[in-house]
Amino acid sequence: MENISRKVLTLDEFTIQQLRNFPSATGELSGLLRDIGLAAKRVNVEVNKAGLVDILGDAGSTNVQGEDVKKLDVFANNQFMGALRHGISCAGIASEEMDDYIAFNDEVSKNSKYVCLFDPLDGSGNIDVNVSIGTIFGVYRRATTQGEIASSQDFLQPGRKQVAAGYIVYGSSTMLVYATRRGVNGFTLDPSIGEFCLSHPNIKCPEFGKIYSVNHGNFFRYSEGVRNYIDACQKKDKSNGGPYTQRYIGSMVSDVHRNLIKGGIFMYPGTTDKPGGKLRLLYECNPFAFIMEVAGGKATDGKQRILDIQPETLHQRTPLFIGSKGMMEELESHL
Ligand code: AHG
Ligand code: MN
Ligand code: MN
Repeated sequence: MENISRKVLTLDEFTIQQLRNFPSATGELSGLLRDIGLAAKRVNVEVNKAGLVDILGDAGSTNVQGEDVKKLDVFANNQFMGALRHGISCAGIASEEMDDYIAFNDEVSKNSKYVCLFDPLDGSGNIDVNVSIGTIFGVYRRATTQGEIASSQDFLQPGRKQVAAGYIVYGSSTMLVYATRRGVNGFTLDPSIGEFCLSHPNIKCPEFGKIYSVNHGNFFRYSEGVRNYIDACQKKDKSNGGPYTQRYIGSMVSDVHRNLIKGGIFMYPGTTDKPGGKLRLLYECNPFAFIMEVAGGKATDGKQRILDIQPETLHQRTPLFIGSKGMMEELESHL
């Protein structure tokens, strides 16, 4: 007889099982996560054949089927937008690839509870060299009344108001990780059945790790405090928890995913020429800050908690320091 308790839960099964603990829940969040999972699977298929672009046609050209070949980040944007528009849980979206938010103007969407902000393809500079890339998303309960069309105040909420946040990493295997206030769980795509399966239940970020991740090329444009901390990382030895190792992929999703699992710190500080840093608050930093805090870690802009920043515009940037709690406290002592 089959041993049911050993069955691996799929993403859908998992979110539905979570609902059982909340008899009053409507299942809308499960629906939204299912929509995101579907878009992720479609993007995964395209990401996996990105190397074939040169023989099937470059972005901006026409492929062998006579269709326009879109850049992968535009393709990914359309997949996530389409899945959320057709689902019944999302009243509107905002994305790195679109200047303004889109409020879905049909009766079902206007009555939906959530809005979603995302970076459809993060690390897209790495696509053509076959290095891991990702998708990042944050979900908010809307601030406006259900039944009305969503508006900017739904999208400009501080990150602490997220009800869920997650990312997909298209790596040596494809994983979807998402957090609610109750925990962080990771699902690996099983290509044989086309489902995300629970592989990393209840992820916690180790309090200390050995990895620091930063773009060293910018070293002389960082503040003195940041430079001092990087020096301290390089001087670590057995006597004080080291030696540390430096790892920087250049895809935030992959870099922070690794540090979340293994323990570590990731930094994208402001520089003398770009004091606000590079990363976007709403759809890059807030989702990761939420996930990291639920997993026991910390995320700041060097002065305050990322999740407490009151956003003013959709695409605003912020410096980011994120990772293991103990390492973040070490960093803070230098800033
Ligand atoms: P995107 O591809 O969405 O524009 O984001 C790339 C980001 C992030 O993933 C990464 O950590 C960072 O850019 C790398 O920037 P540098 O090359 O300046 O280090
Ligand atoms: Mn990005
Ligand atoms: Mn992007």
